[in-house]
Amino acid sequence: MKKNNLINPSPRVIENSALGYSVLRSLNFTSQFLLLPLIEKWADGLPKQQPENFPQKIKEAFSEILELLKQDSKNISLGLYPAEVLTPQNPIQHAKSLINVLRDGFKIAKRRKEKKAHDFSAQELENLADIPDYARRNFHFQTGGYASTESAQLYEHQVEMLFSGSADAMRRLLIAPLKQATGWSDGEGLRFLEVGCGTGRLTKFMKLAFPKAKIVATDMSDSYLKIARQRLSQFDKIDFVQAWAEELPFPNQSFDFVYSCFLFHELPRDIRKKVFKESHRLLKSEGLMGLVDSIQKNDDQKLNWALDLFPQDFHEPFYKNYQNHPLEDELSGLGIQVVDKRIGFLSKALLGKPV
Ligand SMILES: C[S@@+](CC[C@H](N)C(=O)[O-])C[C@H]1O[C@@H](n2cnc3c(N)ncnc32)[C@H](O)[C@@H]1O
Repeated sequence: MKKNNLINPSPRVIENSALGYSVLRSLNFTSQFLLLPLIEKWADGLPKQQPENFPQKIKEAFSEILELLKQDSKNISLGLYPAEVLTPQNPIQHAKSLINVLRDGFKIAKRRKEKKAHDFSAQELENLADIPDYARRNFHFQTGGYASTESAQLYEHQVEMLFSGSADAMRRLLIAPLKQATGWSDGEGLRFLEVGCGTGRLTKFMKLAFPKAKIVATDMSDSYLKIARQRLSQFDKIDFVQAWAEELPFPNQSFDFVYSCFLFHELPRDIRKKVFKESHRLLKSEGLMGLVDSIQKNDDQKLNWALDLFPQDFHEPFYKNYQNHPLEDELSGLGIQVVDKRIGFLSKALLGKPV
């Protein structure tokens, strides 16, 4: 009996274990994030400005992170996606990656101080040869922008530090509504298209939740796709294609689900519109469109201060415009009705279907 309980833990045990692990993970990334101001001070010598009533704001932010982690753990216990989504990174790799991220923090602080958002090595410039102006920049003041292997290797760790270990749970916001809308499908017979998949974190979570789906994952960056390919090498029915989101090389209405994660806030408005239109073109008439991205102005009034801070601290030239043009309006402009909306900390997930 006891043995059986260990092999088949109850949903409550799964939920609590997942939450315990996720909270520890969040504390780990938060403590790492606290090292960054020290490095930045060393690099740029600038005093750090804090928003008014900062301790209260941070307290509210952490209670939102906890809510998100609780929901994520609940979803795992309900079987919406497997606990495998929480598989930790090898600790030695994690420590090495932290050292590299801290080292890069120094370069980022210098770039921020000098307001250099187009800082590329000769090799990176070569990689960027055919890239349009809007994308030829160091988003977040990242070394190498999206053009280098180094940037691709550091990206996930940097993002988790920035969001206190909540980035993966934010990415997963989209999975529960999709699982429910597809009647708990395992993906059999379904074709998914991911736009701007980066290093493939959400791609892997989707594959774990919908193991029988065929996933085509696309991104403009070869360096990021290389990591995504390695991450998903043990899975079948998955293709990676280097492609621009505004001009994807697939026939009309060829996918059951078209989705993206953390893509739209980095695009100028005209490109955002083109990407929505292109995603719509590729979607079957009975398909679903989904996205996870930054919350926008007044999605959560308690966090408006963070939205104002983000484009000041990080190079995010299109973010202000993004904040003021609700994604819901872009979808309804295409004739897509939002059927599910969820907010988790600094992200929102929308699921829509053509009407
Ligand atoms: C903030 S990252 C998000 C990556 C990934 N979805 C994730 O959840 O971590 C944005 C990604 O979008 C890609 N990207 C930006 N503009 C693009 C475009 N116009 N077409 C295709 N990919 C684009 C970048 O290369 C990068 O991998």
